[in-house]
Amino acid sequence: MRPLGYFAILAAICGSNAQLVNPNNNTFGNVFNFWMKTKDGWDLTRGHATNGVTLPLPQPAGKVTIQPASSALVIIDMQNFFLDPDLGGDPLGRALVPTTIKMIDAFRANGMKVLWTNWGLTEFDLESMPPAFFRAFSSDGTSATSFGSDMGTIRGNISVGRKLMRGSWNAQPFGDLFNEQVAGVARGTDFYFNKNRLSGMWGTSTPMQTFLQDNLITTLFFGGVNVDQCVWGTLLDSFYKGYDVILVDDISATTSPSAATGMVDFNAALNGWRANSTDILPALM
Ligand SMILES: *[C@@H]1O[C@H](CO)[C@@H](O)[C@H](O)[C@H]1NC(C)=O
Ligand SMILES: *[C@@H]1O[C@H](CO)[C@@H](O)[C@H](O)[C@H]1NC(C)=O
Ligand SMILES: *[C@@H]1O[C@H](CO)[C@@H](O)[C@H](O)[C@H]1NC(C)=O
Repeated sequence: MRPLGYFAILAAICGSNAQLVNPNNNTFGNVFNFWMKTKDGWDLTRGHATNGVTLPLPQPAGKVTIQPASSALVIIDMQNFFLDPDLGGDPLGRALVPTTIKMIDAFRANGMKVLWTNWGLTEFDLESMPPAFFRAFSSDGTSATSFGSDMGTIRGNISVGRKLMRGSWNAQPFGDLFNEQVAGVARGTDFYFNKNRLSGMWGTSTPMQTFLQDNLITTLFFGGVNVDQCVWGTLLDSFYKGYDVILVDDISATTSPSAATGMVDFNAALNGWRANSTDILPALM
């Protein structure tokens, strides 16, 4: 969705029919937002193919060409709350860290933005949070241990902070990802977005959506935890809003039963594409 020339837009709006940029049976979408089917895959660059990168994604996807300047890696909820062993965090999620860092490095090296999308609640969020969310995040079945409750201390001297509140230790990225995030944001390759629901893209807009619009980003690669909850929620809302969605299997995990991942895998491939980092990294080297 890069801005087209004023006259191209005018022609499209004022023409006798709403027209595609390049009307033929292999163009999907509209003048503002379109894909082109190629002989062996898809071109997602929306007419900005210069410096495009072609990723050999697994079949049935084929070759998918992206515009790096319009693409981003979205890392969801790789936070201490979900991953730290002393908070009951997920070992499968912790195991994703090295591969996630490889993807981060490759994206940065290609000028593709890295977006950290995490729970980070404010007092106002607590006042407006629906009951279902408080229930889902209670530790003992009462509201006293849900969002905003003090989580005490672990390992003798780590003050865990209030549950998933913005700026708390438990809401920070886990392990080596924390230093990656801090350094990336400082260098301007990475950006940090707080969210107040499972999805970082719900409702009329969110900080992440505003950023994508302002930066003309159209193509999103997803990883994080849980793949069937916050990753899926953000992927699905992004899909509904017209972004290209690519789920990266080997930087995603969940604590849910395998049927939940099965549903996500099936539908992610319909909404967009699925790949492993091993399909993407060589093309970015
Ligand atoms: C597009 O497909 C339709 C229906 O199959 C066909 O009649 C038409 O000739 C095709 N147009 C082009 C440009 O190939
Ligand atoms: C916390 O304790 C660990 C060892 O138990 C120590 O290495 C670390 O420096 C302590 N951190 C602070 C902030 O006191
Ligand atoms: C990613 O790798 C895993 C493990 O080898 C495999 O099960 C899965 O099908 C792969 N995903 C894709 C999209 O090829």
